[in-house]
Amino acid sequence: MKYLAFALFIFANTAFADFRVVFQQPKNPADAVVFRLLGENHALEEFVDTLSRGIQVPVRVPIIVRSCGAPNAYYYPQDRSVTMCYELFSEHFQVLQRKFGNRLSSEEVAKAVASEFLFALLHELGHAVFDLHQIPILGREEDAADQFAAYFILTVKSYSILQHAPIYMEAFKYGLFDKLVRGKTLYSDEHALSEQRLANLVCWGYGKEPQQFQEVAIAIRMSQHRASRCAKEYAQMERSIRSLLGDKLRINSHGQPFSPVSMESANAIGSMLQQYKCLACHDVNARKIGPAFRDIARRYRGGDVEQQLIFNVMAGSTGVWGEVPAPGLHNIPEVDVQKMVRWITSL
Ligand code: HEC
Ligand SMILES: [Zn+2]
Repeated sequence: MKYLAFALFIFANTAFADFRVVFQQPKNPADAVVFRLLGENHALEEFVDTLSRGIQVPVRVPIIVRSCGAPNAYYYPQDRSVTMCYELFSEHFQVLQRKFGNRLSSEEVAKAVASEFLFALLHELGHAVFDLHQIPILGREEDAADQFAAYFILTVKSYSILQHAPIYMEAFKYGLFDKLVRGKTLYSDEHALSEQRLANLVCWGYGKEPQQFQEVAIAIRMSQHRASRCAKEYAQMERSIRSLLGDKLRINSHGQPFSPVSMESANAIGSMLQQYKCLACHDVNARKIGPAFRDIARRYRGGDVEQQLIFNVMAGSTGVWGEVPAPGLHNIPEVDVQKMVRWITSL
């Protein structure tokens, strides 16, 4: 009985509230190029899977990738879905290839467009997360969504997305994207100019990892003055994001993987906790003889504590959570303890 309730708990928490990619068949040949680019090797599904583990959302958010008849990408609050139109990227693909085909291989152009897609997707998910969790925002929401995207990219170290920035820069030099999408209403748009958005992204990257981003910063001609302030800018952004998202953000600031708990491994861990009698003293949500697993996760959120917790569980402890001592559990293999601790801290 107890195990069933446990399994249902895990199911309810990991299976339904997540981001989920829904591909629709492209309607014209230009869109098919982007479809192939994203669909290959399930790269997009994997990326989105990582996101689902990193950011907690209260409902399932479908990410619909389709031909829309216009270049666009948006979050729609009424049904809490994100739509990514092939056209936005097929158009950029064509423009980039036309302008730079003689200098860049089509693979390079494709990579730049795929990176742009991932960035745009994260930006839209930023809007989704702000809405779903009613996150307060000062300044422009569009800039906040860029910060959300950049923070995620830099924290899980998917740098390659930003490393393609110089290629976008080439395009921006010709004013291509803004003219293409926004025409004469450019200055009244809710987004900052594309060049500024790009410079911000590179600044945050440079602020966090100067070595990684030095070349890109030079390529987009960032001023010395701005560059010297990027580390502070990044630190402030990180502090704000972590404080606003709180325990909805399931990654620590070292970019350590938010414990990769799939449905299967969650069930395996359920039976492990049963087998080793942890559930005699612990419950996921409530305090028993020992602290609730959720409270343990909350207390150590963002900290680098895995080794310490493994040690405490195996050696036993007292006084961390109160007077009642935890027994030493030396006879359990350390690999199993590690799996359980990772799962507990991922809650
Ligand atoms: C006999 C009861 C009992 C059993 C069995 C038990 N625990 Fe605990 N556990 C406790 C108590 C009590 C504490 C709090 C100890 C303290 O305050 O220092 C605790 C603390 C913890 C902590 C937090 C440690 C810290 O340093 O904050 C973790 C993680 C944990 N237990 C995991 C497990 C796992 C995994 C198992 C099964 C392998 C398990 N426990 C089995 C009673 C138990
Ligand atoms: Zn936006």
